[in-house]
Amino acid sequence: METLLATMTLVEKLGQLQQLDGFSEGGFRKEHLELARQGRLGSTLNVRGARVVNELQRAAVEGSRLGIPILFAFDVIHGYRTIFPVPLAEASAWDPDLAERTAAVAAAEAAAAGLKWTFAPMVDIARDPRWGRIVEGAGEDPFLGSAYARARVYGFQGKDPSEPDKILACAKHWVGYGAAEGGRDYAGVELSASSLRNIYYPPFRAALEAGVATFMSAFNDLNGVPTSGNASTLTSVLRREWGFSGFVVSDYTSVLELVAHGFAPSGAEAARLALTAGVEMEMVSRTYAENLENLVTSGAVPLSVIDEAVRRILRWKFRLGLFDHPYADEQREAETLARPEFRVLAREAAVRSLVLLKNEGGVLPFPKNLRSLAVIGSLADDRLSAMGSWSGDGRADDVLTLLAALRAREKLGGPHITYAGGGDVSGTTDAQLAEAVRTAKRADAVTVVLGESAAQSGEAASRAFIGLPGRQLDVLRAILALGKPTAVVLLNGRPLAIPEVATLAPAILEAWFGGLESGPAIVAALFGEVDPSGKLPAAFPHCSGQPAYYGRKSTGRPAGTDKYTSKYLDCPDGALFPFGHGLSYTTFALADLTLSSQSLRPDEKVTLEVEVRNVGPRAGTEVVQVYVRDLAASRTRPVRELKGFQRVSLETGEHRRVNFTLGAEAFGFYQDDGRFLVEPGQFLIYVGNSSIGGLETALTMLPARP
Ligand code: BGC
Repeated sequence: METLLATMTLVEKLGQLQQLDGFSEGGFRKEHLELARQGRLGSTLNVRGARVVNELQRAAVEGSRLGIPILFAFDVIHGYRTIFPVPLAEASAWDPDLAERTAAVAAAEAAAAGLKWTFAPMVDIARDPRWGRIVEGAGEDPFLGSAYARARVYGFQGKDPSEPDKILACAKHWVGYGAAEGGRDYAGVELSASSLRNIYYPPFRAALEAGVATFMSAFNDLNGVPTSGNASTLTSVLRREWGFSGFVVSDYTSVLELVAHGFAPSGAEAARLALTAGVEMEMVSRTYAENLENLVTSGAVPLSVIDEAVRRILRWKFRLGLFDHPYADEQREAETLARPEFRVLAREAAVRSLVLLKNEGGVLPFPKNLRSLAVIGSLADDRLSAMGSWSGDGRADDVLTLLAALRAREKLGGPHITYAGGGDVSGTTDAQLAEAVRTAKRADAVTVVLGESAAQSGEAASRAFIGLPGRQLDVLRAILALGKPTAVVLLNGRPLAIPEVATLAPAILEAWFGGLESGPAIVAALFGEVDPSGKLPAAFPHCSGQPAYYGRKSTGRPAGTDKYTSKYLDCPDGALFPFGHGLSYTTFALADLTLSSQSLRPDEKVTLEVEVRNVGPRAGTEVVQVYVRDLAASRTRPVRELKGFQRVSLETGEHRRVNFTLGAEAFGFYQDDGRFLVEPGQFLIYVGNSSIGGLETALTMLPARP
């Protein structure tokens, strides 16, 4: 590599630092062919498909002086062609292995289509569901988020990203992006060092430990310094403290945006600030290519900084074997995309993502002999929405919606299906409402499909009010007034503030945006062929804007009946549906919680055991969750922190003892300077099936041995 570096002109070096958006109908932008031939295009995003990739690659490899291959990237977030549930949905499965498998399929398809890099996983902690991008991550919790970060990185990269079915991953958005003020996308973020260290950094750290090749710097301002020009997070923490040896790509035009932030007076200064802070590759804006020559000549930017950035990028191109195998194989692409077994996995993932939020009076599952079912709600028939945001190269035609799956079942002898859209998420006329009621009236049972369209969550899709958009609530009320057995199915990309739905509807199944197989998965749950076993990875609030995440601080005046306690006058405390909540068609009982020791030292581990029993009428899966509370510490700690979870599948009447081993990492926290501290004192441990309640025991942390 050093030999290659030594032969490169400065312009060629800057070319390696440039990533451009090559998206264009039917291929790539013609300008990029010329840039590739001049060695001025290190990477592209959105150019995909073996034939198209090869054509542009040929210009770089065979047409440029040094023949350095282009690194092709794309947002493969929850599938390339085979679209899996959105990441928040997959996190509802509390099954990181499953996420590893779906990421591996996504990588295999993407790699076959000529891509070698994805901008995923998105590992931002998101505690405000108004923020539309909560759909792209694993929700509100650092422990669950870290497990998913690790799994997804392994899934994309495997042990060796140069394997033909692997691609590079990218931990994004470094950092704090999910804490956008008021949940408004791209807004500034104020986070203490303690919050960064203990809440927002851990999933990134987990991705790094799993070997993630790249990081993406974010759009947001962090405590007054935009993250794409932030030397403290990019250099002091990421490079120096954590020893990250891969490279950092900016977010889309986020280098040039340092000007709009009011952080850099000009594009040239933006380039200098971003590069010297630690952003090696610039996505889409061209401040590096346009200014760094002058900045080097004037001495404002040392050449060594550019060389180091180029080195970090070239190192991955070499490791990937791109110099030896720059081209994609069209035959392989044809054989790989949309393989039937990938769809089978998509079904499994969609099933596991389902969260049964409420089920009163045994409305669900519907009886096997149900004669007719009315489906109300246009989302039931919305293929595009079922794919959610970032649907890769997915095809809406490949989606099996809820309505399509029900009709397929009808053909096989299932209940007679009638359908009325009841308007859509933007509104409902009185005539549409009346038609929905007429349709429901004639059926024996009703499924009301409510939620958001895919475009109502995701990037630049924050909402101030996260109730049901349009007149969906009116439709629901009118249907419920008929008194038929009614189940609500929610299709949405974020937790919603839906207190009326939670009160009025007897049964609510959260199905998120489940991907290509979302329809059959929901149908299987509605008729009891599968048991919904998901748990919420982020809380549903009672009211828009209410902090409902479980891991908050106690405050000096925890919410209570007294007036002078921490609460709202007009919104209940706590969550409508808390983190970790999810029911099943069966019932589980936890009992007999034991600890291997009531006290331990920081270098020791404690094992806890609990008995899980299926006391309900059928087989099912419970997710047993372990939470810890540090009762008093030199820095206040959250009222609960998740420290372990396990999926346990049991036949009816079956029981099993489940154990968890917790070490110092479960009882300590990061100091502002990054040191991990375990303090002596009292801890509570809760073992339950959500972040509320559960069995409780106490533990004493003793001082370290002298
Ligand atoms: C998003 C990133 C994404 C990039 C490239 C940006 O707008 O914030 O998450 O990877 O675009 O598509």
